[in-house]
Order: sequence, then structure tokens, then C-alpha cells
Amino acid sequence: MSLDRQLTIFRAIGEETRLRIMALLVRGELTVTEITQILGQSQPRVSRHLKILTEAGVVDKFREGSWMFYRAASPAPAPMTEIVAALKALNKSGDRVIARDGERFAQSREARAAAAAAYFEKNAAEWDRLRGLQIEEEAVEARMRALAPERVGLFIDLGAGSGRMLTIFADAYEKGIGFDLSREMLAVARANLDRAGVSHAQVRHGDLFALPLESGVADVVCIHQVLHYLAEPAAAVAEAARLLKPGGRLLLSDFAPHNLEFLRDKHAHRRLGFS
Ligand SMILES: C[S@@+](CC[C@H](N)C(=O)[O-])C[C@H]1O[C@@H](n2cnc3c(N)ncnc32)[C@H](O)[C@@H]1O
Repeated sequence: MSLDRQLTIFRAIGEETRLRIMALLVRGELTVTEITQILGQSQPRVSRHLKILTEAGVVDKFREGSWMFYRAASPAPAPMTEIVAALKALNKSGDRVIARDGERFAQSREARAAAAAAYFEKNAAEWDRLRGLQIEEEAVEARMRALAPERVGLFIDLGAGSGRMLTIFADAYEKGIGFDLSREMLAVARANLDRAGVSHAQVRHGDLFALPLESGVADVVCIHQVLHYLAEPAAAVAEAARLLKPGGRLLLSDFAPHNLEFLRDKHAHRRLGFS
């Protein structure tokens, strides 16, 4: 890498607000509004800093409808590997400003997760009707079935909701475990599994980002209509990969990219689909 290029990178990062932004983005991707709230600075100012970081190639941005997301560049330019390690160390250093940013980052994440949890709490009983409104569910489910191996040992469903996936795949696994954060959803799932006579599946309360399971235990991991609620969809896929046996299969279904902003306001979606 040329001297000029290195200088651009170091100049971009060598300023207090931009260093704080970088330290935040190695924690996880954020919208410009969230960065503005965490730093307590005006949106135009934060946008100016983000522009410098983006132009230097150390931050990636992507638009989804009216939201702009930012994350640490991937793949990172050459000196970034060391810089990211230094930023991670800075996040753990106990520095007062960085520690406060970290607390606000966590609060921002919690607020987002709480909004989604409140949505599912409120809609648990009605969820099966709502999910049918959003997608052509029969076609999706038939496709999911066709992609799955005929018979497996352990089938894990992340964000199991009302237990629909555990039910439609019931004849394809020996043991099914579904995880969900919403206790209301879990209650609905238990009732649905009972009603369908599925006794070889259970649902448990758990955060799909940190599941109490050993690595490499699952034959199939299913994530159906969950990613668009998550702050870190890639981390959810990584957790699924961790759970899978070598040669295991990930069944992933979600919206294609769309512009239906109302799904954010009315249905707690964070992401407008995936390509
Ligand atoms: C849209 S529902 C989908 C449910 C089910 N997969 C289906 O297709 O009907 C999304 C589910 O993900 C759950 N969820 C969201 N974030 C989660 C997390 N971090 N860990 C576990 N479950 C989560 C919600 O509580 C909700 O039940």
C-alpha cells in the first residue's frame, strides 16, 4: 500500500470523534441516527465525519430505504487489521469517554431489541395470522422443505416464534429444539406443538446470539423470518454456523430487499430484506 494511502487512512482515524466512531463500529454496525445519539453530536457533524471515514475506505456504508447503515470496512484495507485490534483494545482499556460510548452502544442495542420484544409480546397470540400476511408462506415453506435433508438427527430453530418451523419439519428430525427470546411466543409455540402432537421437539428461552449449546451439534439449523429484526444478522448466521456439524445444513429464509418502510414503524423490522 502506498504512503499516500496509508496517510489517508491514518488522517481519517486520527481525530477524536472519528476514532470514537471507529471504536463503536468495531462493536457492531449502526445507523447514522444511532451514532448521533451515542456520541451526543449533531447529525450533520457526524455525517461529515462518516464521509471522511467512508472515503478513506475504513468504513462501509449501505442504504436501506431511509436508513443508512455504517460498519467497519470489510475486507479491511491492509493496516486496518492492526488498527481494528488496537480499537478493540481501546474499547477494553477503561478510557472514560470510550467506556461511556460503549455503554450507550449497549443501551442503543437494548432499546432496539426491547422494541422488537415488545412487538412479539403484543402479537404472540396473533402471530400466525400476521406472518401469513407478510409472505406467501405456503410457497416458502414448500421450498424450505425441499431444501432440507429428508431425515436428520438434531434440528435447531433459531427465533422459533410460534413453533411453525418445528411443526412443519417434525417428520424430518429425530429431535427438534427451538430458541426464542419472547416468553409469550414460547407459550404459543408450546401450545402449537402440543396441538400438533409434536412431542420430540422442545422450545427454550434463549438469545440466538449466545446459545447454551456446544459447537457442531446440529444437522440442520433453521432461521426463518428472523434476520430482519436483528441488529447483527451476520452474527446470527455465524452462531448458526458454529452450531452446525461439518456438512450440516443452514435453512435461511428472509425477505428480499424491499422499500416497505412501514414494516420498521409498525412491525419492528430493522432491515429491509437481504440480497
Ligand atoms: C418473525 S418471528 C419468526 C418466527 C418463526 N421463525 C416463524 O417463521 O414463524 C421472529 C422471532 O424471532 C425472535 N427473536 C428475535 N430476536 C431474537 C433473539 N436475539 N434470540 C432469539 N429469538 C429472537 C422473536 O421473539 C420472534 O419470535
